[in-house]
Amino acid sequence: MAMTPLKGSDLLAWRRRLLATGGRSVDLDWLLDLGGGLRWAELQKLQLNPGEMEIQLAVSLETLEDLWQRHQQQQVPLQHLVGRCPWRDLELEVTSDALIPRQETELLVDLALAKAAEFSTASLEAALRWADLGTGSGAVAVALARHLPKWSGHAVDCSPQALALARRNLETLAPGNGCELHQGSWWEPLRPWWGALQLVVSNPPYIPASVVDVLDPVVRDHEPRLALDGGVDGLDCCRALVAEACEALAPGGWLLLEHHHDQSDLVLDLMARAGLENACAALDLEGVPRFAMGRRAG
Ligand SMILES: C[S@@+](CC[C@H](N)C(=O)[O-])C[C@H]1O[C@@H](n2cnc3c(N)ncnc32)[C@H](O)[C@@H]1O
Repeated sequence: MAMTPLKGSDLLAWRRRLLATGGRSVDLDWLLDLGGGLRWAELQKLQLNPGEMEIQLAVSLETLEDLWQRHQQQQVPLQHLVGRCPWRDLELEVTSDALIPRQETELLVDLALAKAAEFSTASLEAALRWADLGTGSGAVAVALARHLPKWSGHAVDCSPQALALARRNLETLAPGNGCELHQGSWWEPLRPWWGALQLVVSNPPYIPASVVDVLDPVVRDHEPRLALDGGVDGLDCCRALVAEACEALAPGGWLLLEHHHDQSDLVLDLMARAGLENACAALDLEGVPRFAMGRRAG
């Protein structure tokens, strides 16, 4: 239900009052946008002409202030407070049951789609399969399902709570998408399709356990440890994923992994030792190698 219109100058005064007590303007503006329905461009216009505009928010300022205080005082992620997160061209449901999808993972999808294009001759598409191992909120699976409607897809997670969230996101954002969900560890639930998976992506937990312990509380205390902790050196999950890739991928199939900012050489080495060919790195938006790709021979 739309609220009573507000004077633009009153909204700006409210914003200044909240920011005077702490917090980042970028976060408060994100909350105004996702929680209050005030688009960023509209806020910029308002700041240029404070006296002349009337604003209609989707919720009251009291509701937004209450959310902001919970974020400030208890470090609850804003995405959890509004229950949504913009990611690529999607608005995903998010909860504390799964990782909030990160911006760099948008690139993992672009890299996967570039590899998919290598397979996508019209006559073959019906028999092509992708998989997203450790699907969490289902972000990557939703994106792949929307872009590869003729492929069949598989999304795996060991967390039943994360899978329930992924199912809701798939049903809302990629209905009738042909993606099956499986509970279990990495490749294991996909045994019936081993040797027939052309494109497999994963953003596994890759943060060393000691680093997880000292992460910002907004992450450490509110996102599942299962989604963050990659063991002592952060590479436990990458090792498990790479170990079975040469059996589980189709001949010529690609494995694409996201990893921590300092793991590129180690993950490429794991891939090469496991017998994956053409192992190579790709950079994130800051120019840091954050993705490793390798393919099964054939
Ligand atoms: C870093 S999160 C990635 C979530 C999502 N793909 C994304 O990019 O936002 C890693 C995911 O791997 C899952 N996971 C952890 N260990 C697993 C295992 N042994 N088998 C399958 N999934 C696992 C976690 O539950 C979590 O959802």
